[in-house]
Amino acid sequence: MIIDSGELDEREEALIAVTREAGELARDFFAKPIEVKLKGKQDYITEADGEVERMIVARLKARFPDDAFLGEEGGASGTAGGALWVIDPIDGTANFAHGIPHFCVSIAFMAGTELALGAIAAPMYGELYRARLGRGAFLNQRAMRVADAGIKQAVVELGWSSRRPARAYTSLVERILATGATFLRAGSGALGLAYVAAGRTHGYCELHINSWDTLAGLLMVREAGGWTNDFLGSDGLTRGNAVLACAPGLKDALVAATGVGQVNEKLERRIS
Ligand code: IPD
Repeated sequence: MIIDSGELDEREEALIAVTREAGELARDFFAKPIEVKLKGKQDYITEADGEVERMIVARLKARFPDDAFLGEEGGASGTAGGALWVIDPIDGTANFAHGIPHFCVSIAFMAGTELALGAIAAPMYGELYRARLGRGAFLNQRAMRVADAGIKQAVVELGWSSRRPARAYTSLVERILATGATFLRAGSGALGLAYVAAGRTHGYCELHINSWDTLAGLLMVREAGGWTNDFLGSDGLTRGNAVLACAPGLKDALVAATGVGQVNEKLERRIS
């Protein structure tokens, strides 16, 4: 790792504090009328997104001035390849904009190429999720563990955005239903992954999602004993990628059904 464990300890402590504070700020915005705009098809932005991200970056920059940042709203700043914070100030923005409490703040920390830390605050549920590479994943004080289920009992969340054609999504739904599993779409990729880590659902798949929506949750799934595809391969950090995360016993069935995570990348491209 490009930083030592003492430096990582400091960042873990700062990450948990700032994620909690950002969750409280998001909750304050949720309680009052705010400005909401569309930045793309069914892709929302609210004044809270910018405010929360600015607060997170200001706090972390004050403590770690040489670290780099990649945020959903603010883009990239700082030197690439070193210590990097990846920030989604509000994930589940459409829910947030419509008064639905299923949203969160998601922040990950990368040490070079290693995904080292992740935290997610779901302020309306009083939940703080966190993970550190090699040290497990926790929901509040409880250690998380993925729940293995047979495919016929499995619940798989299928994320959607207009970045992929509608027919790719409907075909994915059909292929998941054909396995005997059921699906849901709750509108926050970060919380969808955290739910897999917590054993509430058994898998999360989306044909394209951005790194700020996924990295913290991916680390949680791995640290909770789950399997994930190589999201960061093929430039996933800056361009996004397909994601599949699940309990290990479902890997073969879900890779076959979704095409995500297959060694044959041509198939991955064909279905997305
Ligand atoms: C979106 C949510 C959604 C996922 C999309 C994301 P945002 O992020 O995570 O669940 O399906 O791919 O873009 O806009 O709410 O931060």
